Amino acid sequence: MTDNPAKLAESVNAFYDEAMFGPRLLKYYAGSEYTNFGYWEAGTADAKTACDALMARLLGFIPDKKGQVLDVACGKGETTRYIARHYDEADINAINISERQLARGREIVPGARFQMMDATQLEFPDASFDAVVCVEAAFHFNTRERFLREACRVLKPGGYLVLSDILVDDSAEREHARRVPDNYVPDLDVYRRLFEEAGLVIDHLEDATEACWKNHYRHITRYAHEAYLHGDFTLEALQHALRPYYERVRYIQHYVLVGARKQP
Ligand SMILES: C[S@@+](CC[C@H](N)C(=O)[O-])C[C@H]1O[C@@H](n2cnc3c(N)ncnc32)[C@H](O)[C@@H]1O
Repeated sequence: MTDNPAKLAESVNAFYDEAMFGPRLLKYYAGSEYTNFGYWEAGTADAKTACDALMARLLGFIPDKKGQVLDVACGKGETTRYIARHYDEADINAINISERQLARGREIVPGARFQMMDATQLEFPDASFDAVVCVEAAFHFNTRERFLREACRVLKPGGYLVLSDILVDDSAEREHARRVPDNYVPDLDVYRRLFEEAGLVIDHLEDATEACWKNHYRHITRYAHEAYLHGDFTLEALQHALRPYYERVRYIQHYVLVGARKQP
């Protein structure tokens, strides 16, 4: 764990840049540029379908998808590309802290504006956006509270914030290299209050731990073992790939989907 901003960004980028551009994750995400757990229902065939389903669910919290939208922690731009199914590319801004990921985003959604920016220090004027989207990243921010206040500030009155987020136990917040100790949230009531204190009204809060985290875990462990059976993984590579998943079983408490609104 760290609360030094430069060290945190360095550690987050080293982890994601290596994983996201490696051949294994590209294959796992069926050639798409997503990096998230996705939303798995009975019959969901692959990770890209699950990630599209997660986006559909989150954007479903925005009743009228129009105006200016910001994709916070856009990764390699696949969430941004999904947003562009509903919004004009010219109306989409996307931010991230990795230049390498942003460069890929610019390639796949050329009409959107991708910028290097920290989610807790948004360089946009007040009331710039009709919607802010943030998929599976707020647990890295220093802090989640600062991000919620910034998201509220850049939203127009009545604008929507939709996000997926992961709550972990306090030992993981304290010990994990890519976590911030001040981000520890003991339960969903305290989590709700963070939004209220930032000026946001929650319309939807879905505990999607089963559909997102646990089904993703079931799928990726099976997927990796199939690869091992077919000789695509050595034993060492299998163990290296799955170790973080085994650890997450111990510390992930909730995977949540939130649809919130700035007070009109
Ligand atoms: C699990 S990935 C999700 C990426 C993308 N939203 C997706 O669903 O494919 C987490 C992302 O959060 C980004 N991130 C972490 N801390 C950030 C921060 N303080 N500001 C902006 N982005 C951040 C990482 O660079 C990474 O791209």
